[in-house]
Amino acid sequence: MAERKPVHVTEAELEEQRQYALEVRSLPQRPETYFIVTYGCQMNAHDSELLAGMLRDMGMSEAPDRENADFVLFNTCCVRDNAERRALGNVTWLKEVRKKNPRLMIGVCGCMIQQPGMAETILKQYRFIDLAFGTANLYRLPELMYRALNTDRAVVEVEERDVIAEELPVQRLRNDAAYITIMYGCDNFCSYCIVPYVRGRERSREPEAILEEAKRLRDSGVKEIMLLGQNVNSYGKSLETPVTFAELLRRLDALDIPRIRFMTSHPKDLSDELIAVMAESKHILPQFHLPVQHGNNEILQRMNRRYTRERYLERVEKLREAIPGIGLTTDIIVGFPGETEKQFQDTLSLVREVGYDSAFTFIYSPRKGTKAADMPDQISEDVATDRIKRLIAAQEEGQRKAQSRFLGQEEEVLVEGLSRRSDTAVSGHGRHGISITLPGSEADIGKIVRVRITGMKNNTLTGERID
Ligand code: 5AD
Ligand code: SF4
Repeated sequence: MAERKPVHVTEAELEEQRQYALEVRSLPQRPETYFIVTYGCQMNAHDSELLAGMLRDMGMSEAPDRENADFVLFNTCCVRDNAERRALGNVTWLKEVRKKNPRLMIGVCGCMIQQPGMAETILKQYRFIDLAFGTANLYRLPELMYRALNTDRAVVEVEERDVIAEELPVQRLRNDAAYITIMYGCDNFCSYCIVPYVRGRERSREPEAILEEAKRLRDSGVKEIMLLGQNVNSYGKSLETPVTFAELLRRLDALDIPRIRFMTSHPKDLSDELIAVMAESKHILPQFHLPVQHGNNEILQRMNRRYTRERYLERVEKLREAIPGIGLTTDIIVGFPGETEKQFQDTLSLVREVGYDSAFTFIYSPRKGTKAADMPDQISEDVATDRIKRLIAAQEEGQRKAQSRFLGQEEEVLVEGLSRRSDTAVSGHGRHGISITLPGSEADIGKIVRVRITGMKNNTLTGERID
């Protein structure tokens, strides 16, 4: 593969976009309100915060829902077929809304658009879309909006460069917890995965830029930061002066932000140094999302995961030794091409052996352009559905057993909101990453509260306050 160098967006380019934002502000035909519909992972959720920041700079405010917005932007995902279909279904539905509101502008951006030829196909089949752009073009939204408002034709921009844009305006979803992207893209090319094709080559932000952002968040009162990347464990390799993820964490820990979390990790890059830093740190939470994907070595090899079941289990053991009680979560795929019943059983036994606190389980979805899409013996939907049901049952049983370790224990909860089931209860996440409900009111939102765990219900623990 030819080496691609990351491209840093220059200050001059950013200034140009700020000027476009001002121009848009003064256009009489510009939308007054926006609504962003986000699909997919936390990366996309954070991208939407940046998109919202830029739209605000263009003078728009957020609409209460998509029916009442002048501009609806779909920030899409393409990691599985159902994410794509849902997005396209919703885009089509909006066409009806436009009959009532002819001023309505429709935009589509994100991973789905970044697939080769996709933008053109969508625009041909969905002629009512006004604006489409890929993940690398996000920072150019002001200019694209300006052009879309000055033409009758659709504006499309998808570029291949591996961009890093600093200092974009941001409209964060929460005041108490914040995302920080530390790296973009992925070089792993797991054989089922489209991400390396749509998010480009792996590239890291400079540690100084990350620390600066974290300090600003700390000074604004943020209690928790979540570091984001497709594979945060290989952070820093692309830098002129390489820095390890463990070292970055050590420096972030020293800032005294109460809570630090990160995702996602690749087991092959989970170093002893990282485990040691986590064990010694004050603020890195005792939780780890470690996608295993499968429990059988032959399948892991065909997935191009570059670790074995044994190596994975050894990493889990090491984490548990160093950080007793650590919260463990994972991602698992069933129905990978050629997966036999016996191989699937290896996934079941691994889930039982580890005892995860929670797991995201997926039916394999062939993605055009990936190696696995061309593999023989694609598994039928019936077989895959049967397997995922059995996997979920095994996971739920393991989860109950795993989570009973918290009964009677003390935990700290960052309260996120009122509980959906009661007006006298609030909920949030404990340090181990598990959702906890406790007595409380709106005044507790954004606070860290101490509780003793008294019960377990479905995926949630319940606690009593002890402060
Ligand atoms: N089919 C099903 N699941 C997938 N994932 C990634 N690509 C696919 C695919 N083609 C899952 C992996 C990954 C998570 C984010 O999505 O488990 O860890
Ligand atoms: Fe996809 Fe594998 Fe990269 Fe994760 S590590 S984004 S699964 S290619």
